[in-house]
Amino acid sequence: MNKAIIAPSLLAADFRNLEREFDKINSSEAEWLHFDVMDGHFVPNISFGFPLLEATRSLTTKFIDVHLMIENPSRYFEEFKRCGADGLSIHYEGNENLAENLQEIRKLGMKSGLVINPDTPVSAVESFLPYVDLLLIMSIVPGFGGQKFMESTYEKIIKARRMIQDTKFNILLEVDGGISIHNSRQLIDSGANVLVCGSALFKVENFQSYVLDLNN
Ligand code: DX5
Ligand code: ZN
Repeated sequence: MNKAIIAPSLLAADFRNLEREFDKINSSEAEWLHFDVMDGHFVPNISFGFPLLEATRSLTTKFIDVHLMIENPSRYFEEFKRCGADGLSIHYEGNENLAENLQEIRKLGMKSGLVINPDTPVSAVESFLPYVDLLLIMSIVPGFGGQKFMESTYEKIIKARRMIQDTKFNILLEVDGGISIHNSRQLIDSGANVLVCGSALFKVENFQSYVLDLNN
């Protein structure tokens, strides 16, 4: 049975009790931590940025998977690296310098991620795969946690997995939005190998066992 990397999304954490939230994350089998940055322009919401990323870096050794939902992301690549990002994912939509940006991310020593929204077909990113370490498929419209998973995602994952297999590249396939134990197995079986999980995970009583259940 295939297993996926689980990436709890910090956006859904209880910010009144961050220390306790980090204890839960650190003592779980989750290998990554997903960190959503929103600027109020690229998406209508504003989340958090550098100070919290630096704090996060000091509180965990997990891989920090930064998902940028901001305009002109390349302005900030170096600062994200300095603050502790291990991977930096940028959106396909609205970026005219994708190939260059993805190579810059790699050059800075981070995994380069490319994200597509639910309306963007998988075929749109094919020519960028040589510069991509991680392809992230949104299963909701980005901007807010707690939204309903879009069923059309399975088909996109299957297509993306096939497309990746046709290249010689080693590219991780990540899914983000509305993920819970009710869809995680089907996503993994469709070819996903990184699952972001926010609201479903942070609201349960037993965080550690839910992380394991996402792979069941
Ligand atoms: C939304 C973010 C997601 C969000 C997922 O734009 O990209 O990472 O935190 O949260 P859930 O799992 O609640 O959909
Ligand atoms: Zn995200």
